[in-house]
Amino acid sequence: MKTQVAIIGGGPSGLLLSQLLNKAGIATVILERSSRTHVLSRIRAGVLESGSVGMLQEAGVGDRMQREGIPHDGCYLTDDNLMVRINFRELTGKQVMVYGQTEVTTDLYNAQDAMGTSILHDVSDVVIEGADSSTPYVEFTRDGARQRLDCAYVAGCDGFHGVSRTTIPAEKRRAFERVYPFGWLGVLSKTPPASHELIYANSKNGFALASMRNENLSRYYVQVPLSDKVEEWSDDRFWAKLKDCLPAEVAQTMTTGPSIEKSIAPLRSFVSEPLRWGRLFLVGDAAHIVPPTGAKGLNLAVSDVFYLYQALIAALTKGDTTQIDAYSERALARIWKAMRFSWQMTTMLHQFEGEDSFAAQMRKATLAHLADSETARRELAENYVGLPY
Ligand code: APR
Ligand code: PHB
Repeated sequence: MKTQVAIIGGGPSGLLLSQLLNKAGIATVILERSSRTHVLSRIRAGVLESGSVGMLQEAGVGDRMQREGIPHDGCYLTDDNLMVRINFRELTGKQVMVYGQTEVTTDLYNAQDAMGTSILHDVSDVVIEGADSSTPYVEFTRDGARQRLDCAYVAGCDGFHGVSRTTIPAEKRRAFERVYPFGWLGVLSKTPPASHELIYANSKNGFALASMRNENLSRYYVQVPLSDKVEEWSDDRFWAKLKDCLPAEVAQTMTTGPSIEKSIAPLRSFVSEPLRWGRLFLVGDAAHIVPPTGAKGLNLAVSDVFYLYQALIAALTKGDTTQIDAYSERALARIWKAMRFSWQMTTMLHQFEGEDSFAAQMRKATLAHLADSETARRELAENYVGLPY
């Protein structure tokens, strides 16, 4: 087999890249380890920056998002005394869009089907060869047979546990990591959202987030110790904990119901540099992970794709490799700023086990400052709606 760009991984990064490249007449093959059903069953993030909304529109997959997504003009940050609204629209002139990653992925698969692009599911043992030569290729197993895909470039869109990052020799890459001493227990329930806007709550009982997917589908999270198991959290226990963390007026009026999904995810910040080795490029979670507190994971994948798709088009249609040479540096400049924001939001809103009393005072003072200072609110809003590409 032969293609122009071999894409490892059919998550949001790989699908969006494939979509934009095919629209520009460039041939791709996506190699995905799982089935489509499995990829679409993963409940992930739900907030799109305005730049991500623009990119999905540019990719020709914005129609359902425009109809069914919920534009948000602001969000709340709270503690036991204060409820601070961050008015994105007033402070930045921008909004964010609440539209689940599952929906984004569904729309991308449908658009890819309509274009007739090549997506191979259930492939295993993917090996990237010759990435530092001018003739890279990818080997993989499908239906019991070993196959070879020759290509001009390889896009590593295979997430944190993929093979692309570790294809880059250890001495050529450097990792930066911060692991947080807690996880998020997430619940999806067919209930109306507790609030019209997202609430990030830092309380004496720990962190909670009230989010949503639509007017009858809510997504909630509470901070839990890493040692906790989902089985230890009955629905009743979850709702009680959530209500203990949310502002009283919200807790008193919110609707609860049976959970339809419940999972625990650890929180980490991680970056592997550089994003390029020869003809191999890392995109999205393959190169970096953010804690979900700033809603940046999916949005960073989209901005990586923004830098890479243009670079690949220039290289493959005009033989101009300037942008390819700049990809890693350009993408990393934005990635590190989102890393900083996600780390700051995480630190500002969570209780750290064993912390001293000073830490809680710092969180309280940060929120009090946000309440009083439009400059502080604008800084947060500017990062939340997404820094420019
Ligand atoms: N071979 C082929 N496919 C692989 C391999 C492999 N060795 N390893 C992983 N994959 C596939 C996974 O099955 C998955 O479908 O790569 C895909 C990676 O998708 P994601 O993990 O979703 O990563 P990405 O596409 O970069 O999406 C960015 O944004 O909201 C955040 O973390 C969230 O998934 C989200 C991310
Ligand atoms: C979600 O709705 O799943 C969500 C929203 C905002 C975040 C994280 C997750 O910061």
